[in-house]
Amino acid sequence: MSQTRTVGPARSLRGEITVPGDKSISHRSIMLGSLARGTTLVHGFLHGEDNHATLNAFRSMGIAIEELAGGDLRIEGKGLHGLSEPGDVIDCGNSGTTIRLMTGLLSGQNFFSVLTGDRYLRKRPMKRVLNPLAAMGARIWGRGGGELAPLAISGGALKGTEYVSPISSAQVKSAVLLAGLYADGDTTVREPHLSRDHSERMLRYFGADVRPFEGGVTVAAQPKLEGREVFVPGDISSAAFYMVAALIVPGAELLIRNVGVNPTRSGIIDILQQMGGSLELLNQRELSGEPVADILVRSSALKGIEIGGAVVPRAIDEFPVVSVAASFAEGTTTIRDARELRVKETDRIAAMVSELSALGGKVEARDDGMVIQGVEGLAGGKVKSHGDHRIAMSMAIAALRAKGEVCIDDTACTATSFPDFWSLLDQVRS
Ligand code: S3P
Repeated sequence: MSQTRTVGPARSLRGEITVPGDKSISHRSIMLGSLARGTTLVHGFLHGEDNHATLNAFRSMGIAIEELAGGDLRIEGKGLHGLSEPGDVIDCGNSGTTIRLMTGLLSGQNFFSVLTGDRYLRKRPMKRVLNPLAAMGARIWGRGGGELAPLAISGGALKGTEYVSPISSAQVKSAVLLAGLYADGDTTVREPHLSRDHSERMLRYFGADVRPFEGGVTVAAQPKLEGREVFVPGDISSAAFYMVAALIVPGAELLIRNVGVNPTRSGIIDILQQMGGSLELLNQRELSGEPVADILVRSSALKGIEIGGAVVPRAIDEFPVVSVAASFAEGTTTIRDARELRVKETDRIAAMVSELSALGGKVEARDDGMVIQGVEGLAGGKVKSHGDHRIAMSMAIAALRAKGEVCIDDTACTATSFPDFWSLLDQVRS
């Protein structure tokens, strides 16, 4: 399973790539396609381990999902009340999105279900979704007083709610909105800063009544969802690794085609541009309710900046690779308001501090972020992925500008979100 990989310094990096489909949108396409009436066709679906966990979950609840040539999916939705009780425990693997969104969705079903995951997922906090769902009348049990999976759900009638979330989390927001589809009235979620709004956009695209307002969103209960054709754009979180690669390798130029640039996800572009990076958005368009563009990235001299506030949820998955960019920037980069990084697939603050330091980087942990000093160059050496796909890929990008080879242990985890990461890297680097 664990697969060690060695990445050496790059002489150049050039070309045109497309990155695989957006992970968040792929999850939601299966969920809403299953709850809609009729056929949903999904183009550009991400065939990674996380999304397969969601796909298998819906198959186990009686939904026919066929894989077509080229990887597209045909989902035969059975309507809002068409799921049937799964015959076994649902295994969410490493996927936080699967377990948290499904917890909301399953709270409203007239059957019993159990959700679990791998050893990393079983350590991640679940009360953040259990608390608002309990206020809607959901009956859910878990280890550690309900904080940890496995979770057991005895679904049933729910009440509409108005939930003020203390954290900006799309997983929390989406869990409550999906439960809200089964409530007896409107459900509203407010959050400190707007987190990714793919659930809201796709619910509306399938026909639900979704009303965003300053600081929150309301969804009406019992919608009639209709099967649709969904075009999944490339995942900006996967593109981010290649953006940073093209910025830090001298003389590099890379065109990344068909990337989702939803403003609730595009914080990485703003951050890298503010650092002095040359990134141009070309051919901007909209695909099934989501903004899309091609992104042209050119090698640039980067400078340190201060990062905090509303941009943090807009770039929440990109901080490992931002810390790599910051290591090659002139001056100091400070990341604040990012305490959520401590409860991702691993503690991403501790992991990046430890692995960049192992190569001679100057990174300090803060409770809610990191302080990173640019250095002349990183050394080669041995680093660990911590079983986290984004740590493994970030360290591979750091290696492109290291002075020697970097040996990364346990890289099999990259299959959760980006199975082709390594072959794509070989294609554009020399
Ligand atoms: C996701 C939301 C984010 C993100 C995760 C995917 C989603 O998590 O980190 O990779 O698809 O809703 P949080 O909502 O916990 O911030």
